Amino acid sequence: MIENSSAIKLLHLAVVDSTNTYCKERLDMLDDGVLVYADIQTAGRGRLGRSWLSRKGNFFGSLVMKKLANPFLGTMVVSLGALDAIKNLAPELPVWLKWPNDLYYEDAKLAGILSETVQQPDNSRAIIAGIGVNLTLSAEDKSVIGKPAAAIGNDKINPEKFALELAKCAEMYYIMGIACSEKLFDLWRKRNDLVGMELVLELGGDRSVSGKAVGIAADGGLILAAADGTEKTYYCGDVSVNRESVRAAWERRKKLD
Ligand code: BTN
Repeated sequence: MIENSSAIKLLHLAVVDSTNTYCKERLDMLDDGVLVYADIQTAGRGRLGRSWLSRKGNFFGSLVMKKLANPFLGTMVVSLGALDAIKNLAPELPVWLKWPNDLYYEDAKLAGILSETVQQPDNSRAIIAGIGVNLTLSAEDKSVIGKPAAAIGNDKINPEKFALELAKCAEMYYIMGIACSEKLFDLWRKRNDLVGMELVLELGGDRSVSGKAVGIAADGGLILAAADGTEKTYYCGDVSVNRESVRAAWERRKKLD
């Protein structure tokens, strides 16, 4: 355990298969609100059955939330906490929240979240929300990832420093999720800069749709308007955006903040 002033306590591991798997398998031994982070994951997992490249120097952590039952709320706690943490540590970075589970730096992925549900012994449910944040990526790492990826790239921000800041920033959102999940959802929805952007949504297989993101529905779905103006709500998929659209959204955000 690492001492810190947040109610979210830190548990540091050197090597683990996956921090999410570690928390799921030891849920009964872990306190509510613990953030387990590791230097290296040997079997880091991403969404949709993908793997997550987990080389030393980057951040891999999972927050145990025994008082939430909805994985979507877990994503919100961790993504808003991570967004604040990055803004505090590297205020100059143009980082934004991308529906449904990512943090982006311009048009490249900086962090991804995998939020999972676990059954507790009393049959209630707990949420494990894991986040991988690229703090440093080599050219080789980027080619292994094979999709646009970015790193914070500030060698003063190491995994321990990031863990301490994330613990501090996520605490408020976890409390909000327990006490007033509508407020958490509202904040997360407002911080999602995808709204207003032209995008392509990959639906799996060869299927994709393109259009403009016009809003996030009350149930968390993404509302997409096609070129003919018809709107449809989507619940999962991989979103690609172009750099011009991101830059325009970033300018809008700067005016709002
Ligand atoms: C995604 O974008 O597909 C989600 C990636 C989530 C990766 C993190 S790293 C810490 C935690 N442990 C895992 O095995 N996965 C999550």
